[in-house]
Amino acid sequence: MKSLYIKTYAFLRPGVVRPCRLVRSVTLIPERSLAHQEGLPKLPVPPLKQTCERYLTSLKPIVSEEELEHTRQLVEEFLKGGVGERLQKGLERRARKTDNWLSEWWMQSAYLDCRMPVAVYTSPGVVLPRMHFHDRQGQMRFAAKLIAGVLDFKKMIDTETLPVEYLSGKPLCMDQYYQILSSCRIPGPKRDTVVNYAIGKTSPTHITVVHNFQFFVLDVYNSDGTRLTVDQIYMQLEKIWNSSLQTNKEPIGILTSQHRNTWGKAYNNLIKDKTNKESVRAIQKSIFTVCLDAPMPRVSDELYQSRVAAQMLHGGGARWNSGNRWFDKTLQFIVGEDGTCGLVYEHAPAEGPPIVFLIDYVVKYMQKAEVVRSPMVPLAMPEKLRFNITPEIKRDIEKAKQNMNIMVHDLDVKVLMFCHFGKNVPKQHKLSPDAFVQMAFQLAYFRMYNTCCSTYESASLRMFKYGRTDAINTTTADSLKFVQAMQDPNTERLVLLQRAIQTHKENTYNAIHGQGIDRHLLGLKMQSIEDLTSMPEIFMDTSFAVAQHYNLSTSQVGSKTDCVMCFGPVVPDGYGVCYNPMDEHINIAITAFNSCEETHAAKFAQAVEDALLDMRALLEDTATAKQ
Ligand code: COA
Repeated sequence: MKSLYIKTYAFLRPGVVRPCRLVRSVTLIPERSLAHQEGLPKLPVPPLKQTCERYLTSLKPIVSEEELEHTRQLVEEFLKGGVGERLQKGLERRARKTDNWLSEWWMQSAYLDCRMPVAVYTSPGVVLPRMHFHDRQGQMRFAAKLIAGVLDFKKMIDTETLPVEYLSGKPLCMDQYYQILSSCRIPGPKRDTVVNYAIGKTSPTHITVVHNFQFFVLDVYNSDGTRLTVDQIYMQLEKIWNSSLQTNKEPIGILTSQHRNTWGKAYNNLIKDKTNKESVRAIQKSIFTVCLDAPMPRVSDELYQSRVAAQMLHGGGARWNSGNRWFDKTLQFIVGEDGTCGLVYEHAPAEGPPIVFLIDYVVKYMQKAEVVRSPMVPLAMPEKLRFNITPEIKRDIEKAKQNMNIMVHDLDVKVLMFCHFGKNVPKQHKLSPDAFVQMAFQLAYFRMYNTCCSTYESASLRMFKYGRTDAINTTTADSLKFVQAMQDPNTERLVLLQRAIQTHKENTYNAIHGQGIDRHLLGLKMQSIEDLTSMPEIFMDTSFAVAQHYNLSTSQVGSKTDCVMCFGPVVPDGYGVCYNPMDEHINIAITAFNSCEETHAAKFAQAVEDALLDMRALLEDTATAKQ
């Protein structure tokens, strides 16, 4: 047994630091989550010339020769005219003065300034495997165990004993884990904020449960600080269920699905009333929310996962479960009476990987047999949250219902459970599985549209303190050559695939090591806004608009659980593609908008399946030919 002295830090947003304290631990813990944090490197500002060169290279496959030539000139002026240098110096100054020059700007520009509804547009959903309960007892039992599992996970956060994660052998920043519980987004007239109540003097001890659009406060700790047992939670859920049988209640939560400006105004109006304000505050402060959903219309087994993905993203519409949410809440677990389960999370405080890590933990926890049976001490009835609905609030709810129904009809979702192979096949052929799947998306897109498009893949920046993400530009001159070659069997298709994968790997390496181009360009742009200088022309250029118009917005979110994350497209004529490559199969969630005639989630899913199979055939045929 080894004694460790570990310096720990409170994890707040960059720039807000709580005093350090010294913790003595007598047991050997694998590695404390926060112990390594101080040693994490700062996110670098990449060299200006390097980013400019890489930016021009990234444009080659997606803009015309004339546009590229024009952009070359603008980039040259930007570099030589002094503007680039001035902004770069500003960025470097910012990097010296802050823990992370990017994370606050990123949180603002990607999330808090974004005025689109969080439902569908920014909040990802997670589809968990179908559960085998078909009634409310099953639903309650499952929800009770799930709540107990999340609280068990929370213990690791509270005691700062979460194991440190690694990427390519490097420890990752664990800050995001400290932002997902007891936090909530708050709408503002121009910009939203995120409030984290775990940081205050007294951490919240309740969760919120919503059933039939009615919200309840469920205290999950006893007065002595011990957690409620699964049986106790189950009994409390039963009480909640029985006192929310009426289905004619106003779906107050649907207000949170509105356009952010609209919701910002409605919010101010809602909380003018003291009771409403207290109820809203109780939801915001809660550790997380559990949505006990009503059963959804039955669909065939083939469509089941897609239907659940839609339910996670938007709740199915005003008639169904869209009002059974508080979309601003960071974490909402969803358990349907029909065996559906998953979650939706508000994206501003964290990326997908910490969320699925939590899911993996909870799923494992739920598989364990329950050992302790609690003595049944009677517990107080969970408090029902009251809302006074004025005619104005009623009008806001009606508008929110209409808009939600439009969003529901507009979202096209297809979950592809690709079962022919997983990471195993590319690995056997010494190829990166992630790059292989990305090339399949490129091929699928090219076959459908006979052209390629700007493609975004999220890359983790968590090797750096408070790191979030950068983007990997998947579409490269090499990926274009490969997809073009796939139309002609007489070309060196395998060599071109290998080259495209190699280029993707290099771009991935650069992005996760803080040498990507997307966030550096964003930083230069933000610096220019902050300096109140006129926007440099490279950011007003057609090429820049094309590069930022991500028709394919993709992200790998891998997990141990057989689940899949899903999110909406980021442009009206695009696809949102989230995938979980497992060892022997790949789960892929694809979304598009029905209002766009050119996109079709199921067709794209079919094209991806065909592309993956053709690429495997290419690897195997070539391997056989060599024997
Ligand atoms: N030969 C054999 N095996 C290989 C290989 C090769 N040439 N290249 C990679 N592999 C292996 C890896 O060792 C790894 O093995 P493991 O399954 O035992 O861990 C596996 O294949 C996967 O590697 P790869 O497919 O290359 O990708 P990755 O796991 O490194 O992921 C990113 C790449 C970009 C997805 C990852 O770095 C990342 O940033 N993830 C976070 C993204 C994110 O934040 N998304 C959420 C946004 S909300």
